[in-house]
Amino acid sequence: MKRMMGWLTVLLLCLTGCTSRFAAASTAPDPTEITGYIALTFDDGPSPLYTSRLLDGLKERDAHATFFVVGQLIPGQEELLRRMAAEGHQIGNHTQNHRDLSKLTLSQAQQETALTAAALEEVLGPGERWIRPPYGFISDAQMAATEVPLVYWSVDTEDWSLRDKDRILDGMLRQIGDGDIVLMHDIYPTSVEAALAAVDHFRAKGYRFVTLEELFALRGKTPPLHTLIRGTA
Ligand code: NI
Repeated sequence: MKRMMGWLTVLLLCLTGCTSRFAAASTAPDPTEITGYIALTFDDGPSPLYTSRLLDGLKERDAHATFFVVGQLIPGQEELLRRMAAEGHQIGNHTQNHRDLSKLTLSQAQQETALTAAALEEVLGPGERWIRPPYGFISDAQMAATEVPLVYWSVDTEDWSLRDKDRILDGMLRQIGDGDIVLMHDIYPTSVEAALAAVDHFRAKGYRFVTLEELFALRGKTPPLHTLIRGTA
């Protein structure tokens, strides 16, 4: 009986192995063949209304993203942030009060980023938290004084003004390609819907969705400091 069970196991393993290989070859493109990598980034959250829906959708699709959070929105959303980190997403700093840093003094601007860095450290523990300046605005002196990567974007979905899933998605499908850093906001339901639809579209074409850190690591590159990063080139 024991020997028979052994043979049955071998037979089953073979069958499942053969079937899945056959299925992979005949239906979907080779899953090991990757067309490219895309870094979705979500600013201005966390949103108690829409961020968890986005996290659910990203998890279902095995996709990672980067969230640039606003410090003043962190209290009460600690569990959401811990969930983001636990599910492999990168969490960055979008300053405490979302002010235009270029209009602030150096010390005011440093206060804006330091407060959020401290809040994130309290919730998530120590770590390097990349910064996206609100509106992408930052002075040369402020850039020179910042010792973590500063991230701009290569594709602006304009999701915050379009507020229409199909129009946002249409722009994404036309503009996004390998290595892009895509600007979105997880505080609008239309952005969440468009993002998940875009993930479905690009995954079917062999693209993978990664964090900014993963994007640079995959390229074998170190993110430069004291400049606004607009891609991995
Ligand atoms: Ni913003």
